[in-house]
Amino acid sequence: MDFKNKVVIITGASRGLGQEYARQFARHGAHVVACDLRSCDETLRIIKDEGAEGLALTTDVTSESSTFEMAAAASDRFDAIDILVNNAALYGSLTFAPFDKLKESEWDATMNVNAKGIWQCCKAVLPAMKKGEGGAIINISSLAAIYGMPNGLHYTASKAAVIGITRGLAREVGRFNIRVNTVAPNVVNTDATSEVWGDKRDKIMAATQSQQAIRKPLEKEDIVGTVLFLASDLSKLTTGQTIMVDGGTVLL
Ligand SMILES: NC(=O)c1ccc[n+]([C@@H]2O[C@H](COP(=O)([O-])OP(=O)(O)OC[C@H]3O[C@@H](n4cnc5c(N)ncnc54)[C@H](O)[C@@H]3O)[C@@H](O)[C@H]2O)c1
Repeated sequence: MDFKNKVVIITGASRGLGQEYARQFARHGAHVVACDLRSCDETLRIIKDEGAEGLALTTDVTSESSTFEMAAAASDRFDAIDILVNNAALYGSLTFAPFDKLKESEWDATMNVNAKGIWQCCKAVLPAMKKGEGGAIINISSLAAIYGMPNGLHYTASKAAVIGITRGLAREVGRFNIRVNTVAPNVVNTDATSEVWGDKRDKIMAATQSQQAIRKPLEKEDIVGTVLFLASDLSKLTTGQTIMVDGGTVLL
């Protein structure tokens, strides 16, 4: 896949899956704008090590002004926005508990970042994508939304909202040649997963694998190919879809 001179914005790119997307887009020739609440300096170094150009931004995806500043900075630097990967989310920092024990403040924060944040970022990049006569938006959901994850209803609901946003938006922006798709991974071996599960991490990963058709642990690199495919012209008439990367757990 060739993303030479394509401009991609990746949110939540300071570490984990977002950082891996940044590395791989850079490897495939894109200019990469890495955004996060946390510093993306390390990600920028990775982008440059891959021989690509990049930009590291401090962005709060829940804020309209911050996301518009993000889009303006990307356009100023690279004169276009072709691809947006909405990866930022509350995940590692969340408390997973029975639904009636979840804190209301955490429910609101989860919906705010994981669902509203995507809306804000999509609004921010729309003018540039329209100007460029097309674009690709990839929203990161989770298998939790499809499989139904117990003891994480705030996260599950927020990730189901991502699928709804994808479908509604795909129909609205198709006339501008902008495609919107979702990638829904199962549990991936990331720092955030270790934070969520603590010393139960290996047990959870093993239980997850036992339900997969292909019984291998999901690593960060295993998710990237589907994101790149949906960002590329190889999928130019695919929109509004959700692709699960789960080793064959939920089969539709
Ligand atoms: N790791 C998994 O098992 C798994 C499985 C399915 C889906 N996902 C999804 O993949 C994505 C990345 O997962 P990860 O494991 O790398 O998690 P992660 O917690 O390392 O990454 C999320 C990033 O989002 C950033 N972020 C949080 N709030 C933000 C805000 N308001 N504005 C900007 N950035 C903000 C965080 O700082 C963090 O860097 C998330 O959307 C997650 O829900 C992960």
